[in-house]
Formats: sequence, structure tokens, C-alpha cells
Amino acid sequence: MLRFVTAGESHGETLVATVSGMPAGVPVDLERINRDLWRRQQGYGRGGRMKIETDKAHVVSGVRHGKTIGSPIAVLIRNRDWKNWTTTLPVEDFDDSSEHARPVNRPRPGHADLAGCIKYNYPEARYILERASARETAARVAAGGFAKLLLREFGIQVLSHVVAVGDVELERPVTWEELEALAAKDDVLLNCVDPDTEQRMKAEVDDAYGTGDTRGGVFEVVVHGAPPGLGSHTSWDSKLDGRLAQAIVSMQAVKGVEVGAAATAAASPGSKVQDTIHYDKGARRFFRGSNNAGGLEGGITNGQDVVVRGYLKPISTLRRPLESVDLPTREPASAAYERSDVAVVPAAGVIGESMVALTIANAFLEKFGGDSLVEVRRNHEGYADQVRRF
Ligand SMILES: Cc1cc2nc3c(=O)[nH]c(=O)nc-3n(C[C@H](O)[C@H](O)[C@H](O)COP(=O)(O)O)c2cc1C
Repeated sequence: MLRFVTAGESHGETLVATVSGMPAGVPVDLERINRDLWRRQQGYGRGGRMKIETDKAHVVSGVRHGKTIGSPIAVLIRNRDWKNWTTTLPVEDFDDSSEHARPVNRPRPGHADLAGCIKYNYPEARYILERASARETAARVAAGGFAKLLLREFGIQVLSHVVAVGDVELERPVTWEELEALAAKDDVLLNCVDPDTEQRMKAEVDDAYGTGDTRGGVFEVVVHGAPPGLGSHTSWDSKLDGRLAQAIVSMQAVKGVEVGAAATAAASPGSKVQDTIHYDKGARRFFRGSNNAGGLEGGITNGQDVVVRGYLKPISTLRRPLESVDLPTREPASAAYERSDVAVVPAAGVIGESMVALTIANAFLEKFGGDSLVEVRRNHEGYADQVRRF
């Protein structure tokens, strides 16, 4: 099965993603992966760090002559900021490192700082925040890029858009073509399909800038072209809705997930929510009256677009810091401030695409898996034929 692991610290030398289980023979278009790395860095509300970094995927294994070779893929993304941190975070234990240490003694509410210090027995939070930081998500996007390349071979695409920033919400449905147009833009504001709503979202971020505060929001990820039959109803851990939920909530700052129209459905009568079933005898295919289920019933894809949303809490680090405690003295103190984003919903959408693509690609390989793309294609075609005859 497709598995991925990331390594790396926020200000370490490099981020690393390894992806194993990719079949051999998948064409690798690095431009696509780099484009997603760029998209992850965009959006109104980002802090100074994203101006320093220009993320590029540096593949060191698993790809030769432009195609996967079936072995684990390792990708590096260099941290340009590392040059400013070599003496703070050296790999070697050199004597004077304490002179250069940048301890984080006043844990920031909403971060892993304090819980991590207690758990790992550190007197200050530097090593905790280095790994808890969402800088790690650049590696997720690189890994997700490979999942997307595999899915594209079978006509499956994954895109995202922003549904809410703070309490400013998009109040209309979107089309797939609108999402494609958004993803092709070279100037990303808040990645919202509606320009008026996007301007109001921008005003919301401006308000946060003005008051030293932050904002959260909601992004939506859409999977277009997935066949019916990925995931399974047969056991709790094979249900694809549950697996997508874990993938999305594992993201930094994401505290909730919604599959399809879950939130409005919970407040609606059943007659208004279930997606009625119809059959087109001419085309010999089933179709639905709506897609409130977000393409998933019983944990199985039903052939409609898969739609999941991630709910982000507001960014934890505030320019007007919250109350905390100074760890050396245990006296009350303002929380530490380290260069920070103010709102990150568009970027989170891109990371969400990667997590969803990795989850869908894994379910896809469970169903159609093989050692080479040729074998996967044969399995997929056999199933497509079976579905046509159903
Ligand atoms: C793309 C992205 C960028 C983020 N940037 C920041 C940031 O600059 N400052 C900050 O305090 N939190 C930021 N966060 C959120 C923190 O990483 C996260 O809240 C923290 O690690 C604690 O994890 P938790 O919120 O999942 O519990 C970001 C999250 C994402 C998804």
C-alpha cells in the first residue's frame, strides 16, 4: 500500500518525505509537484517565513528517467532559513551551542509547546515547536504530489478552495471548472471562487493584522473522477470517510472535518438530505439528485465527487501575546512570539488536497494495486468493465 513519512524541523537543513508503495512506471512531472509547493506558500495573511523560502522538490531516490521505479521515493525540500540557524540547531554537540540557543521559555497557548515539554522532558520548547510547526506540511505536499500523479493516470483530480475566513463565508456552490481556474491562477489572494466574498475575506484578514489578532476558516477539497467502490463498509478502519477524516484532522490547526454537507444535514430533515437514486436507461448509468453525502456512502465512494472540508482554528501565535508562564521562574509572562502567519486557509486547502490525494491513492491501490502502472491499469480496466456490465 501507499505509505508516506515526513522528517525535518522547521529551521533544520531540509525537510524530507519518503513515499513507498508507488507502482513502477508512473511518469513524474516535477513541475506539477513544484507548482503545488508554490501554491502552499501563497495566500493573503502569510508571515515573513514564506518570503524567505522558495520550495522545490529535490528527488533523490525512486525515480529514474522521469518515471517511478517501484522503490521508495525520497524527496528533499531545502530550508533556505537554515543558514541562520546552523549554530542554534546543530546536529553535532558543539561546546558553544548554548551561546546561540534561542530557547522558547514562555510556551504559546494553542501550540504543542507546553504539552511537548512535559512529555519529552525539555526545560524549554525549541525542539517541540521545530517539529510541530506546519513547515512540515511542505513535505506532505511533496508526498501528495506523487499520489496526485498516480491518480491523474486514471482521470482522478484533487483540488481545493476556501469556503470561509473568520466569519466571512462563501454562500454558493462551486463548479469543478471554477476550481480548475482557481488552481491555474498565478496571483493567489484567498483562493475563493467568488471575487466579492474574497474581498470581504481579505478585509477580515486586514482586521486581524490591524488588531494583532489571527483568523481561522474552512477549506474544501474536491476529488473529481473517482470510481465507485473505493473504501469499504466491512470494517471501521476500511471506511474511506473515517480515513479521510483522520488525514484532514492530522493537519496542524485543523480541528474539525466535514464530509459532504454534514453540518447542514445534521440540522435538516432526512427527506431533504439523502441523495435520491435515478437511472438513465439510455446511458445505462445511475445518477443522483444531489451530492449531500460528499461522494461517500457506507465508507465507499459512490461515483460522485468526494467532498471534504477542514475547519481551521485561528493561528495560535499572536502579536499581542496571550498569558503564559515563564518556565525557568514559573512566573506569569506573555507567551513567546515567533514570526507568524495571521491566516493560512488557502495554504491549508493545498495541504488538504495532498492528504486527501494520499488517502484516495492508497484506497485506489488497495483495490487495483500492482507492482507496475501496467498491472494497475489492467486491474482498473477489468473493474471498469465489470461496473459497465453491472
Ligand atoms: C499552513 C499552515 C501554516 C501555519 N502557520 C502558523 C504560524 O505561522 N504560526 C502559528 O502559530 N501557527 C501556525 N500554524 C498552526 C500551528 O502549526 C498549529 O496550530 C500548532 O502546531 C498546534 O497544532 P494544533 O493546532 O493542530 O493542535 C499553521 C498551520 C498551517 C496549516
